Amino acid sequence: MAILILGGAGYIGSHTVYALCEGGRDVVVVDNLETGFAAAIHPNARFYKGDISDKNFINGVFQKEKISSVIHFAAYSLVGESVTRPLEYYENNLCKTRDFLACMVANGVDKIVFSSTAATYGEPDEVPIMEDDRTQPANPYGETKLAMEKMFHWVAEAHGIRYVSLRYFNASGAHESGKIGEAHNPESHLIPLILQVPNGQSEYISIFGNDYPTADGTCIRDYIHVTDLATAHILAVDYLEKGGKSDIFNLGNGVGFSVKEVVDTARKVTGHPIPQKEVERRGGDPAKLIASSQKAVKILGWRPTHDSLEEIISSAWKWHKHHPKGFQE
Ligand code: UFG
Repeated sequence: MAILILGGAGYIGSHTVYALCEGGRDVVVVDNLETGFAAAIHPNARFYKGDISDKNFINGVFQKEKISSVIHFAAYSLVGESVTRPLEYYENNLCKTRDFLACMVANGVDKIVFSSTAATYGEPDEVPIMEDDRTQPANPYGETKLAMEKMFHWVAEAHGIRYVSLRYFNASGAHESGKIGEAHNPESHLIPLILQVPNGQSEYISIFGNDYPTADGTCIRDYIHVTDLATAHILAVDYLEKGGKSDIFNLGNGVGFSVKEVVDTARKVTGHPIPQKEVERRGGDPAKLIASSQKAVKILGWRPTHDSLEEIISSAWKWHKHHPKGFQE
């Protein structure tokens, strides 16, 4: 039986496909290549190009392949973009997932792991954040992911499927081979933007806000290596395949770094001075997001292993240095 990966050509999806293929698992990838890249797909995976909301296409994949479980990464994921284009985010993340779920139920596939986000919490009352803390997203991206979680809950109740929702904190880093890594267009994430400076693609990094209630005034985030995220997805699939019940898990290291600390670490890793400019706050940024991942540790047996910021940035640098244009070369 194969595992079906929706969005397996994207950043976290492609790293999970690599981890599954490296572990000798049978993998099928579906991606419409709107934001993903065919070159990011591991050569051992069988690839079907198409949209998760295309009923005929998805039914065809279910008929050709014997699928035991699904891992669903296919979504838009840029917070800023979601604020200006909310309808597209609801359409792509929620409506298309609904269409796919209907096909999944009709084809008798009953296990799914999917990407959720720390953005479901909004501004937390305290850190580390636990899974049952208040969810109050501050942007449409987080809202669509929270709505997806609720849809899965009710569909699971009605149709006997089981799901695991994984709420990632700040996904970062790249595969140790240097063959795949982060490539968004436009790029809005901190670490790839910092690395554009030593790569000669920009002159400085802008630091958004220096008056947050943190030690150095810049926002604190919990950076988690994409390879550790990939491992968590595999553990979640295995958990469901062994009969585990539907559940939601945070995925982070439980340690926070400020924007200035990230820039400093990138200077150390790259040996470049990386000039910085302190500018206005970016709208909708919570001051401090740190995960408690104790539940994933206890129930899934997950333990992040690439947990030093230096290692995370070194792996990202290995990728960006050799692929300054991402996969578009
Ligand atoms: N930042 C800068 N300068 C930049 C880019 C970012 O100072 O040029 C700051 C941001 O203001 C923020 C931090 O760096 O304080 C991290 O920003 P990212 O854009 O890299 O990541 P976010 O924390 O905003 O978002 C991430 C994921 C989202 C997810 C969210 C959960 O990218 O998908 O975490 O809160 F929804």
